[in-house]
Amino acid sequence: MSWVCRLYRSSLGAKYVMASTGVLLLGFLIAHLLGNLQMFAGADAVNSYAESLRALGPLLWVARIGLLVIAGVHIVTALRLAKANEAARPVAYVKQASRQVKPQTKTMVLSGLVILGYVVYHLAHFTWGFVLHDYSTLVDTEGRHDVYSMVVYGFQCWWVSASYLVALALLALHLCHGITSAFQTFGLNHAKYATAIKLTGPAIATLLFLGYASIPVACWLGIVQILEGT
Ligand code: HEM
Repeated sequence: MSWVCRLYRSSLGAKYVMASTGVLLLGFLIAHLLGNLQMFAGADAVNSYAESLRALGPLLWVARIGLLVIAGVHIVTALRLAKANEAARPVAYVKQASRQVKPQTKTMVLSGLVILGYVVYHLAHFTWGFVLHDYSTLVDTEGRHDVYSMVVYGFQCWWVSASYLVALALLALHLCHGITSAFQTFGLNHAKYATAIKLTGPAIATLLFLGYASIPVACWLGIVQILEGT
């Protein structure tokens, strides 16, 4: 077995893999949010942004496949770590240990699996057009894919918006613990900065939640809406 496999199979190696893939997924979340927030700048901004992404052609597919591989490694490693932890825990220790485990830790695997389900639902909603209507065929006056109208129509349904908000809250919960854990894995836990490090996870998670949630809420309340001529 090569040293890479041995490192991956060790619990420390698995934690590094979780933290590194988690940081990369966080990078995607930040970039995706910055793109989505252009909804507040109007149809032209969002549609030309989407068009510029599509113009990347094969590069976009490289990024998509990369994202899929990173998410796959993150999930498989999480399940393997959870199984190993469960197997290593002596039965008599179960009660005492479970009392010390934070609620976020307990919900990491569960919230992770719900987020995976949410991403599939999200793709079915916007990319594949399986939820309510197929918005992917909308075109704007410039002949571009009308991502702006797709998102506005997509969030006009209250239960679709509500389901996004629930999933986004779970994502925030997952990130709160995940980011703090990544700091520890990378050894960024100096006592002098303990409070700042402890607050970084919740702060980033809250900002991402507010940013993402602002879009369905704004569409649902009519703050972001379809204007004539767009
Ligand atoms: C309110 C929040 C969100 C909005 C408005 C939004 C919007 C969009 C839109 C418009 C697309 C492109 C659909 C298309 O034209 O094919 C997309 C793709 C995607 N979104 Fe989101 N998104 C949101 C939240 C999220 C979150 C929280 C995640 C991850 C947990 C996520 C993951 C993805 C992925 C993986 C894709 C596919 C990317 C690709 O195929 O290039 N989105 N999203």
